[in-house]
Amino acid sequence: MKSIVIYESTHHGNTKKLVDAISKKYNVETAGIEHAESVDLSGYDMVGLAAGIAFGKFYRRMEEFAIKIPSGSQVFLLYTCGNPSNRYVKNITRTLESNGARIMGHYGCRGYDTYGPFKLVGGIAKGHPTEEEIMGAVAFYDKIIGRE
Ligand SMILES: Cc1cc2nc3c(=O)[nH]c(=O)nc-3n(C[C@H](O)[C@H](O)[C@H](O)COP(=O)(O)O)c2cc1C
Repeated sequence: MKSIVIYESTHHGNTKKLVDAISKKYNVETAGIEHAESVDLSGYDMVGLAAGIAFGKFYRRMEEFAIKIPSGSQVFLLYTCGNPSNRYVKNITRTLESNGARIMGHYGCRGYDTYGPFKLVGGIAKGHPTEEEIMGAVAFYDKIIGRE
């Protein structure tokens, strides 16, 4: 099972913590979204897309990159957000599925958020992702490769 995770984690590096933990345990390759175009995705069995959430969706560059994922790809989604909701994966899932990708699952948890007015109160979800949440991402990856 050869996997790569493409990540965009610009706010506080919250999502990157999940990516790094998975990569460390499973030797999964990683690439920042700025290098994503030069990755040959056909060389991997599974592709992870990992990002923070902005305005109810994955970060814009990641939502746009999802359009380019080839049909038949096996994809999993990782995200962190200030205020959890299942709807954050909806748009990117629709994009991927309408292009023929297969979604293996998604994992999300809270991540320190100092956007806009939250900055005035010292941010929300301080201390997140916690060690437990990071380990939750590793357990999630473990589960999806076990399913293979
Ligand atoms: C511009 C902007 C918009 C955001 N919008 C949302 C949102 O709609 N819902 C939410 O739960 N969190 C939102 N957040 C919080 C981030 O998703 C959260 O802090 C995330 O952990 C950041 O991940 P990162 O550090 O990997 O970039 C927003 C943050 C920024 C900077």
